[in-house]
Amino acid sequence: MADFNRRDWLKSSGLIGAATLLSGWSTPEVLTQEIKSPKKKNSLVRLNSNENPYGPSEKVRKAMKNAFDDACRYPYSYQNELLELLAKKEGVSKDHIIITGGSTEGLNITGAAFGLYGGEIIAARPTFLSMMDYAVLYGATINWVDVDKNKGLDLDEMKKRISAQTRLIFLCNPNNPTSTLLPANDLRAFCHDVSERVTVFSDEAYYDFIEDKNYPSMIEFVKEGKNVIVSRTFSKVYGLAGLRIGYLIARPDIITKLNDHVAAFTNVLAIKAAIEALGDNEFYNHAVSKNREGRQMIYKTLDELGLEYVKSNTNFVFFKSGRHINELHKSFMERGVQIGRPFPPFYDWCRISTGTTEEVAFFCEQLKAVLG
Ligand SMILES: Cc1ncc(COP(=O)(O)O)c(C=O)c1O
Repeated sequence: MADFNRRDWLKSSGLIGAATLLSGWSTPEVLTQEIKSPKKKNSLVRLNSNENPYGPSEKVRKAMKNAFDDACRYPYSYQNELLELLAKKEGVSKDHIIITGGSTEGLNITGAAFGLYGGEIIAARPTFLSMMDYAVLYGATINWVDVDKNKGLDLDEMKKRISAQTRLIFLCNPNNPTSTLLPANDLRAFCHDVSERVTVFSDEAYYDFIEDKNYPSMIEFVKEGKNVIVSRTFSKVYGLAGLRIGYLIARPDIITKLNDHVAAFTNVLAIKAAIEALGDNEFYNHAVSKNREGRQMIYKTLDELGLEYVKSNTNFVFFKSGRHINELHKSFMERGVQIGRPFPPFYDWCRISTGTTEEVAFFCEQLKAVLG
């Protein structure tokens, strides 16, 4: 019955076709085998990984096609043009930047570099885990600091936990999965004080979705020569998650140290795509405005259902479903929607990404059916 409803809905919304349903939480292996782009037929509505299904833009697709002849070459010699553009965009010199295979690669190499020889990393719980997962493999220990009662990062507690063992503090801002944004002044004061003692890492994967256009990037501290590292990605607003390209910005001596650990550099098509994407303001603005629209649609439905949620600064919404996430996941999979994974300790909360308008509308219908 559930599938019948979905098919009806998909027909009326133009997303024709029944879903291939997955049985468990997605792994990259499962995804490549079973799920196609949300634009294609027979696809599951994927609202689980905070991607931007509107990408890549038409201009970027064209740039990638034009780059096919270069795909027989190693990518390093192609990065200079992108480095120049990024340096101009961020107001730093090229030696402040490393281009990485997605920002995940930037997080991983930082985890390796700072986790070596058993250092400690202070990080929020819950937050985006790549760096900590990787650092542990290199011998690091993690000092977890629970988010505060508003689900924001608890900077005071993080500061209190600094000890002689601490090598780095990981700030995901806006935070994944809670979507909270630190007050600008608190963040600035924290980075200013703390970077005198330990390195601060600011993961700014969702920076482009912040509504306050004057909200500071911690790149401002990099420019002042502080112990601060910032990560950015082409996976979110630019819609290039499948290409694997992101970058780190830090003082040149830190960049040199991190460079030693790069394992998975990006590729020629991704570099060409990123160069084009940086100039495609029309697509950028479209992505930001579609995301805003998607968030509003989700808020409206949550309000109708009387469900608590966090006002989002990202391309996803974190809400309290009141159901165990494993149970909720199963219900949504039966209805052809893939929702975010569990984020302990918030087992009765759910993270839902903003997809296309049609996908979000479909999700909202299903949410009413499941929880209404
Ligand atoms: C906070 C945060 N940082 C980094 C990433 C990794 O993004 P990528 O490796 O695609 O750049 C993600 C992905 O969802 C994220 O949520």
